[in-house]
Amino acid sequence: MPDTITIIDDRTGKQVTVPITDNIFPATAVRELDPSLFIYDPAYMQTAACQSAITYLDGEAGILRYRGYPIEQLAEHSTYLEVAYLLLNGELPNPAQLDQWKNDVTSHTFIHENMRKRFVDGFHYDAHPMGMLISSIAALGTFYNDAKHIEDKSSRDKQILRLIAKMPTLAAMCYRFSAGLPFVYPDNNLSFPANFLNMMWKIGSYEVDPRLERAMDVLFILHADHEQNCGTHVMRGIGSSHPDPYSAVAGAAAALYGPLHGGANEEVLKMLAEIGTKDRVPGFIKEVKDGKGEKRLMGFGHRVYKNYDPRARIIKKIADEVFEVTGRNPLLDIALELERIALQDDYFVKRKLYPNVDFYSGLIYQAIGMPTAAFTVLFAIPRTSGWIAQWQEMLLDPEQKIARPRQVYVGPEERNFLPIEER
Ligand code: CMC
Repeated sequence: MPDTITIIDDRTGKQVTVPITDNIFPATAVRELDPSLFIYDPAYMQTAACQSAITYLDGEAGILRYRGYPIEQLAEHSTYLEVAYLLLNGELPNPAQLDQWKNDVTSHTFIHENMRKRFVDGFHYDAHPMGMLISSIAALGTFYNDAKHIEDKSSRDKQILRLIAKMPTLAAMCYRFSAGLPFVYPDNNLSFPANFLNMMWKIGSYEVDPRLERAMDVLFILHADHEQNCGTHVMRGIGSSHPDPYSAVAGAAAALYGPLHGGANEEVLKMLAEIGTKDRVPGFIKEVKDGKGEKRLMGFGHRVYKNYDPRARIIKKIADEVFEVTGRNPLLDIALELERIALQDDYFVKRKLYPNVDFYSGLIYQAIGMPTAAFTVLFAIPRTSGWIAQWQEMLLDPEQKIARPRQVYVGPEERNFLPIEER
């Protein structure tokens, strides 16, 4: 069977044959056929917008790999900082490289005092942590005038370190502000996840429980990248016009904020609280099914996974370890019952709707003491490494240009302006 596809324009009889590589054929085939012909693909259901060597995802088989390494192995044996290095550099670091990397990240955790005093302190007392984080990231970029030199590798590398290292500091600062608590400075003697937990929770003396530290690190690993999702697509899209990376990360974080994307973990907890008790689960499922898409089972379904999200499986496992420290989250029983019933129900089975990463993560965050509104912030911290890795790959890819999709214009034909008294 030839690995080619032939497209025939039935209007003219003209045909073009192009190669199929990895199930993809180039859209330039359409241009060759007729330069005024375009493919209509809202929400990019059938369009690959880039070549990427970072993350592999097989939605039918439920497989996720970073740079070839199965997510299960990374979650078991690696750390978030090592994974961030892997995403950015393509290979796992050797001991010397890892030491250097950890040292570099650790020495960039502090933020300029004016960020807090002049910027964060200006938020309204009940500002949403994600809104605060998004604007703080963009504001942080204004402290680094060199950040716009994206063509300069040494400047790029510096911003990469700053962004990865300062995200936990910004996130914790936003939380402490909304809780009315004094800011806790980074402690560079602690690991990346322990430092974050310390900045969140320290009041007087506080010691990070190593089991929670590890759970946080695994959650960071699981959320680090997920190929071309909505936020990453925004990162690449903004990055393609060559602004500084802080502006692009702020945009990607804004995309993540939405309830259909990273905001789903917050919605899952609201949903479980609304259901309230296990016996009300069947009624809730019925409402979802009768809602004709209006009401959704949050934390279920995925554009690519048509099988159990492998991240959800790992999270379910670490939930038990976290609950040993914190006590069992009472909402877990409702979540388990929802999953049990949904996975047997024809509506969900037919549509291949399985729990995604957000279904169980919120239960852990809540058990650790994180306020629901901060859940998406916890997603944004590690996803920053994925966004930056994708941004860097895009910048270095000679095939990439400024992102500029086409449209099908369906508005009025040309018409003449009417003075206001004639309308
Ligand atoms: N509950 C009930 N029905 C659903 C759900 C759900 N969670 N998700 C999809 N469906 C139905 C939908 O109504 C549609 O039914 P029909 O064919 O009868 O119209 C069918 O399944 C296909 O749905 P879709 O909206 O066309 O699928 P999509 O690929 O555009 O959407 C999704 C993917 C993740 C936005 C969607 O599944 C959803 O809204 N899930 C709930 C929100 C959520 O958990 N988001 C987190 C995603 S994972 C983390 C991340 O990427 O950030």
